[in-house]
Amino acid sequence: MADITVRNLRFRFDEPVDFDVPDEELGTVLSTLALSMTMPYLEPYLIRTMKVAIPQISSPALVEDAKRFSQQEGHHFRNHANFNNQIRASIGETGADALREIEADLEADYQRFTKQKPLRWNLAYAEGFEAMTCATALAMAETGAFDGEMMPGGEIWPWHMVEEIEHRTVAFGVYDHLVGSYAYRIWFGTRAQLHYLGYIKRFAVSMAKTLGREAARPPSALERDARRRYLRTFLPWYDPGKIELPAGVEDLLQRYDALSASP
Ligand SMILES: [Fe+2]
Ligand SMILES: [Fe+2]
Repeated sequence: MADITVRNLRFRFDEPVDFDVPDEELGTVLSTLALSMTMPYLEPYLIRTMKVAIPQISSPALVEDAKRFSQQEGHHFRNHANFNNQIRASIGETGADALREIEADLEADYQRFTKQKPLRWNLAYAEGFEAMTCATALAMAETGAFDGEMMPGGEIWPWHMVEEIEHRTVAFGVYDHLVGSYAYRIWFGTRAQLHYLGYIKRFAVSMAKTLGREAARPPSALERDARRRYLRTFLPWYDPGKIELPAGVEDLLQRYDALSASP
């Protein structure tokens, strides 16, 4: 069984999102906000997928992991829904309407996947997303992205990303247990990533258009490390349980243990 703690945390998003940043920072800001915009649709879809998978899992330990994975994702998307209200309020009515249109398309896609796609397809989507996100979360921890000044949304990012690292073995484990095919994971996992990244781009471009800005995103140490880690997920012997965790991950987990325990 993986070591997964469900932390019941709610963050506050009182400060408006500050879009008044240089062009070379705006690209990162908008991509970060775009990630948040997807979560209230993506994460319930992952939870629905696990709900279908759980009765078919023969390992009680993996069932427990899948339940905790779903509970963590549940807390993630509820916080992101609150943050997204602040994003929409900060970008103004026209921009918010444009975002809502994309949100409706994304929700329709995920509802369709749940209803029409086979479980193995939805599990490959879940693992494709989780592997990509874990690679980025590990790169963020490695390159110190969680130290110092926070991105818009503040604490939601280190908390969410460190829990993604904490539950990194679950979607892989459930896929491996119920499907197992390496070729299917790579083929459909990659298609899933392209589907997801297409929406990240749509959200980011929509916000840039509303702001009338050109968002640049110069290459960074974080992106180079994330790409290197992401490419490793394509190896036949990829196993998220064997990844060596960057320094600082354990401290962050303990920080959120303490926060969730405090009244
Ligand atoms: Fe999550
Ligand atoms: Fe996750």
